[in-house]
Amino acid sequence: MCGIVAFTGATEALPFLLDGLKRLEYRGYDSAGVAVVHSEAQGGAPKAALKVVRRQGKVATLIEALSGTEVAGTCGIGHTRWATHGVPSEQNAHPHLDCSGRIAVAHNGIIENYTHLKDRLVEQGHCFTSQTDTEVIAHLVEQNYGETEGDLTEAVRVTVAQLSGSFALAILHAGHPDIVVVTRNDSPLVLGSFEDGAIAASDTPALIEKTRDIVYIRDRDLAVLHGDGRIEYFDPAGEPFVPNVYHVEWSLEQAEKGGYPDFMLKEISEQPRVIRDTIADRFDDRTRTLRFPELPLTDEELADIDRIYIVACGTSYHAGLIGKELIENWARIPVEVEVASEFRYGNPIISADTLVIAISQSGETADTLEAVRLARQAGAHVIALTNVVGSRITQEAQTVLNIKANIEIAVAATKSFLAQVTLLTLLGLYFAQERLLLTGPQIQEIFGEMRQLPGQIEHILADTAAIERAAKACCEATTALFIGRGVGATTCYEGALKLKEVSYLHAEAFSAGEIKHGPIALIDAAAGTPVVAVVTQSATRDKMLANIEEMKARGARVIAVATEGDGRIEKLADHVIYIPPTRECLSPITASVPLQLFARYIAVERGCDVDQPRNLAKSVTVE
Ligand code: G6P
Repeated sequence: MCGIVAFTGATEALPFLLDGLKRLEYRGYDSAGVAVVHSEAQGGAPKAALKVVRRQGKVATLIEALSGTEVAGTCGIGHTRWATHGVPSEQNAHPHLDCSGRIAVAHNGIIENYTHLKDRLVEQGHCFTSQTDTEVIAHLVEQNYGETEGDLTEAVRVTVAQLSGSFALAILHAGHPDIVVVTRNDSPLVLGSFEDGAIAASDTPALIEKTRDIVYIRDRDLAVLHGDGRIEYFDPAGEPFVPNVYHVEWSLEQAEKGGYPDFMLKEISEQPRVIRDTIADRFDDRTRTLRFPELPLTDEELADIDRIYIVACGTSYHAGLIGKELIENWARIPVEVEVASEFRYGNPIISADTLVIAISQSGETADTLEAVRLARQAGAHVIALTNVVGSRITQEAQTVLNIKANIEIAVAATKSFLAQVTLLTLLGLYFAQERLLLTGPQIQEIFGEMRQLPGQIEHILADTAAIERAAKACCEATTALFIGRGVGATTCYEGALKLKEVSYLHAEAFSAGEIKHGPIALIDAAAGTPVVAVVTQSATRDKMLANIEEMKARGARVIAVATEGDGRIEKLADHVIYIPPTRECLSPITASVPLQLFARYIAVERGCDVDQPRNLAKSVTVE
């Protein structure tokens, strides 16, 4: 949802700004721009002025436009956009300027009261040049700058108090050539300093080359970055404060492709490591108990839980659906899984005995954050399950469980999904253990099988020829259906979403038993509609085989994900992708891997940008 970067230091700003924008491009990529303070000779004496370059399209287009242009200066801001107000165009690209052209603003978020503010500013004589909500901020700062007698920090503070909505802002003023003022509300912003300057950005990958000591500020706090590396922090009342500093464990190499053609393939390949890290130290073989030291709930509180809500969006929602089946099955607690945007406007039944698990890879999805707030207000205990240490959700929930996926850059989530499912599996087992519904030896047996999962995924990744063949056979299709039963069906929901996201091939997933009640009409014998069937070992495998027969009888091209050694499936399916045997409850973790690869291969065949699919953004910080 838009990425912003800011730099002030002893060296040129542009290389950092462009590198940062490339690293933030997963947040939005329909236009990009930079503004740098540089010196202009005006009537002899050099005077600081802003140099602004903006382009519609990706950061690469901006870089091309900048080559051969003189954009020198040691203080600047940059932006990569995911359009909300106004079409993607050069005119609507950030940074936006005030009337004087001396103030530049880069913004991530939505200013909800912008029409009201704009009307007033127009009455005061300000001229607008874009369709964006952001432009009001530049003009408001201009107005307040005049009223605060040229105190930029105070002008921004007063401006922030007038804004409602979500924003992360980086503000530059030609009259203050070595500072950038930044602030945020409900949108992410990270800051840091290094020997030669101070920097800020929407996300850590943009900073990591310069520093791994990161500061997060709270809503409406303000920070002033100085060229000598100092950062001053002020709360909304203007009082200075000293923030906490978080050390980032992962390195720059982990945010690079490392020889892979795209981040999606790299991240799929990292999944064995991710699962190893996620399960590490969770089980004590001596006492045969699962450990969740992060969970503050007493035995009594755990016993009293009468309902669990899982709230999430997108891929995280699908992880929640799998979590529901496992928790209900093992711990016998009713679980409702709700899309966060529905949960917050519904009327959820929450009491002090309700547990809410909010899942968010990024920890900054606006709808999920709102759902967390609503749940807390209603008195529920909220557990956040996230991949980003220090992210917004970790500040809002009472309990935080970190998945160990490390930074995920491809817009389509893969390794974070597997990590979420793995952690939810452990949580389901833990609840069952604490409620005395599973014994130590039973849990030990299941956990023992979980320890096999990384090796099993390595085995799948080692030979992907069958997946590639199946993908090649389907890449001309116009629609694809996915079917499964139980956790196999939920695995399919995610498989279909991956295919849609990266290849733009229309895909829908159904519970296999339901397909004959309508969706079967979509099967076109002449086109050989692809039907991807997850038919691993399970109590309903024979029913699945019967469903596959029904699909075949209507001319479907069946791609089966089946358990090694299942000879029967070969006679039924056009393509079989074999995966190692696991018990049914763990099968989403292995069966998801070929579905991720299937989606990626089709996307590559169709010439799609696998890492940055059209219209999407990795984290959605607006409603
Ligand atoms: C966006 C992304 C999806 C992601 C969803 C939820 O829509 O494109 O890939 O699953 O947000 O993100 P979260 O960070 O909350 O898991």
